Amino acid sequence: MKKIIFLLTIVCFSFSRFVYNNPGEGTYIQPSPQRSGDPAVGYHYLLNGDYLKSGIPFNYFRMVFAKKNSSYLQRDSLNRDIGYEYTAVKAGNGEIVVAPNCLQCHAQVFENKLIIGLGNSTVDFTGGEKLDPRTATMTENLLRKTDPKEYEAAEPFLKVVKAISAQLHTQTRGVNPADRLAGLLAAHRDPQTFIWNDKPMMEIPDQVIPSDVPAWWLMKRKHGIFYNGFGRGDFGRFLMASNLLTVNDTSESAEVDRHFNDVLAYLRTLEAPKYPYPISHLLARQGGVIYLQHCVKCHGNGDDYPNLLIPEETIGTDSFLYKSNYQNPQFVNWFNNSWFAKGDHPARLEPFNGYIAPPLDGIWITAPYFHNGSVPTLEAVLNSRLRPAHWTRDFDNLEYDYKKVGWKYQEADPSQGSGIYNTELPGYGNYGHYFGDQLSDHERSALLEYLKTL
Ligand code: HEC
Ligand code: HEC
Repeated sequence: MKKIIFLLTIVCFSFSRFVYNNPGEGTYIQPSPQRSGDPAVGYHYLLNGDYLKSGIPFNYFRMVFAKKNSSYLQRDSLNRDIGYEYTAVKAGNGEIVVAPNCLQCHAQVFENKLIIGLGNSTVDFTGGEKLDPRTATMTENLLRKTDPKEYEAAEPFLKVVKAISAQLHTQTRGVNPADRLAGLLAAHRDPQTFIWNDKPMMEIPDQVIPSDVPAWWLMKRKHGIFYNGFGRGDFGRFLMASNLLTVNDTSESAEVDRHFNDVLAYLRTLEAPKYPYPISHLLARQGGVIYLQHCVKCHGNGDDYPNLLIPEETIGTDSFLYKSNYQNPQFVNWFNNSWFAKGDHPARLEPFNGYIAPPLDGIWITAPYFHNGSVPTLEAVLNSRLRPAHWTRDFDNLEYDYKKVGWKYQEADPSQGSGIYNTELPGYGNYGHYFGDQLSDHERSALLEYLKTL
């Protein structure tokens, strides 16, 4: 039996090589040169660095934001008592302020452990944030009267919160509005100088595009980043884009940019966490054969990753995200004419009508699935008949389902409020990617077992 499986594996593998090179399947993304750097230096900068140089004054932050989440990272001095998703930094005028950092969206506490690089699928942008335009205005007025130096340090951050935070609301908890955030920041900033303008200088469509944050450990395999695969050229330039939140002008960006070769080097060292429970190796081996027949041509096998963009007609998943780049090309044009696209390591955006087929390393832990997080379990990715139309998680008591592989969820009535994932909303669709539907139940459970090993 073992021998037969071995032989089958070889035959399928050769077959998959053949399909790989079939140009009809997808569009290959050419690699771009990247800067090299020091991972340890990048790690330190990611968690302590001043890529945002404005925020909430330190003492005010400690009063308003409860002290929590501070023990996950062993940071020292001012950051010792601050949650992992914030960093205390020195503003331009020497005042200490607290700014959000990348781990707001790119880390998650999973089974009581902080996993850096796991997309945060519990983030809540449905409204009711502590920092909305009203509180920002109140804070501004208070600081202006009581402490002009603190006011000066907080002003670049508070003015941005006032102008855009009300336009970032998502329909459900767990999805991320970062694409709209990028669009809004661009609309308020001059592309060449990054100087802020209170009035937006280009029109950004009203609808928020929901996305599920991709795991950082996948990036090292990709030749184009983001779901659309449209991030090309120097990746460091995209990694530093949060700098647009508070930057005063491009001289500050140039200083921040000098650190992002190291941050990139750190992100490239990240590995997917291993599945923590026993795996049936017999079943997984059978699943491996099915994977080679049906999946490898797009998703690849470890280092052997094909870097393919899969067109709309083949993938069929919700098209809202990639279509937005064609219906409203303002953001892409802004970027490609901006400071980011200049200098000796430029970046650029190349939209595509479809999505990149992502590597599947650590896929067991990155639920919910697809670019918009519309499918709660891997079982339902493989069998579209099982995908719930309206579902919710108990965010106060999140539980992982190691059998279906994904989040435990309940089906729910969409009128029940903002906790509900309603797949009928634009951008939130759970259709498409029907590649597992044709398999038998046994084949799907073997494949699921195999996916746990990645
Ligand atoms: C507000 C949430 C948020 C913050 C803060 C944030 N990101 Fe992201 N990031 C996202 C989302 C959402 C995506 C996926 C967007 C897409 O592909 O359309 C993303 C994509 C990425 C990617 C591409 C990954 C891939 O494989 O395609 C990298 C790398 C990245 N972010 C790095 C960073 C770094 C470094 C920081 C801090 C300087 C940061 N991000 C801050 C939400 C965020
Ligand atoms: C023709 C190319 C193609 C084939 C064949 C294919 N996929 Fe995919 N797959 C994609 C693309 C593209 C996406 C991203 C879709 C999206 O996010 O909207 C994806 C997404 C996924 C995801 C979700 C990833 C995530 O991080 O949310 C999983 C899991 C997955 N595929 C597994 C499989 C398995 C298992 C097979 C084999 C039965 C398979 N795929 C076959 C192209 C393909």
